[in-house]
Amino acid sequence: MGTAIAGSTFQNLLYEKKAAVAYITLNRPKVLNALNQAVFAELKAAFENAGNDSEVRGVILTGSGDKAFAAGADIAEMSSYTASQAEEATRHAQAVTEVLENLGKPVIAAVNGFALGGGCELAMACTIRIAAETAKFGQPEVKLGIMPGAGGTQRLPRLVGKGRALQLILSGEIISAQEAYRIGLVNEVVPSASLIARAEAILNQINSNAPLSVKFSIDAVNKGLDGSVSEGLLIEASLFGICAGSEDKKEGTLAFLEKRAPQFHGR
Ligand code: CAA
Repeated sequence: MGTAIAGSTFQNLLYEKKAAVAYITLNRPKVLNALNQAVFAELKAAFENAGNDSEVRGVILTGSGDKAFAAGADIAEMSSYTASQAEEATRHAQAVTEVLENLGKPVIAAVNGFALGGGCELAMACTIRIAAETAKFGQPEVKLGIMPGAGGTQRLPRLVGKGRALQLILSGEIISAQEAYRIGLVNEVVPSASLIARAEAILNQINSNAPLSVKFSIDAVNKGLDGSVSEGLLIEASLFGICAGSEDKKEGTLAFLEKRAPQFHGR
């Protein structure tokens, strides 16, 4: 039996909810949490569940075992794909990354080991990446005669710049957590034993703020990066207006003026 949430049972993931946090754990440790089609389908269901669950304010995504976050797409499954099957699979994987990128709630990748190929791409779609000291990152697809297919060619240059992204994608080099931190691929590097606690602390800090402000800030950054600065500024102004019309804005500004902690309700 797998892990159950209302209406679905997962064979390849663990799904757990504690207080306001959903923990989604990739759970195929024997193959270093390689991402097959079943994993992507379950990830979509799990993230949609977390997105629709009003008790959940944020998600922590990690891998089971101490070796891997995810060592990429499942090479055994992929080896027999035709070109059209590969394109379909990659579109599905990309769609899953868009679900978690645009969840409207922060998603923290707690990268506990190898994050290669699709594993690195999954982490890059998360709102924030925290790496254990032992984590390793890379886009080694070129060594297999393929190329990144779950967003790597788009999100990596946005995170680390075009030159560094192309170097990683073209060389297939695997880099350490410290190097990933140096180039801006991860936000922080922490000892393995503190990885989940640090992710929880970041979520707690975010969750003390107004939920609509958090949601619309993520939206403005994501949508803004898709277009020009002028288009992004229009999106920012419109979402700023929606935030400013919320009850939480009245509460947040009043609480500041009354020198007390605000009580936010996400309205
Ligand atoms: N797919 C399927 N199985 C995988 C896998 C993957 N991506 N990565 C590891 N495994 C399996 C291995 O085959 C092995 O299985 P067996 O025990 O049955 O032999 C098991 O996991 C343990 O792996 P290793 O023995 O290789 O462990 P290692 O410590 O010696 O090496 C590693 C670790 C360097 C991560 C190595 O496993 C590796 O290079 N894995 C593949 C990484 C990769 O190329 N990822 C990109 C995939 S393509 C992609 O992701 C496309 C995309 O953009 C979506």
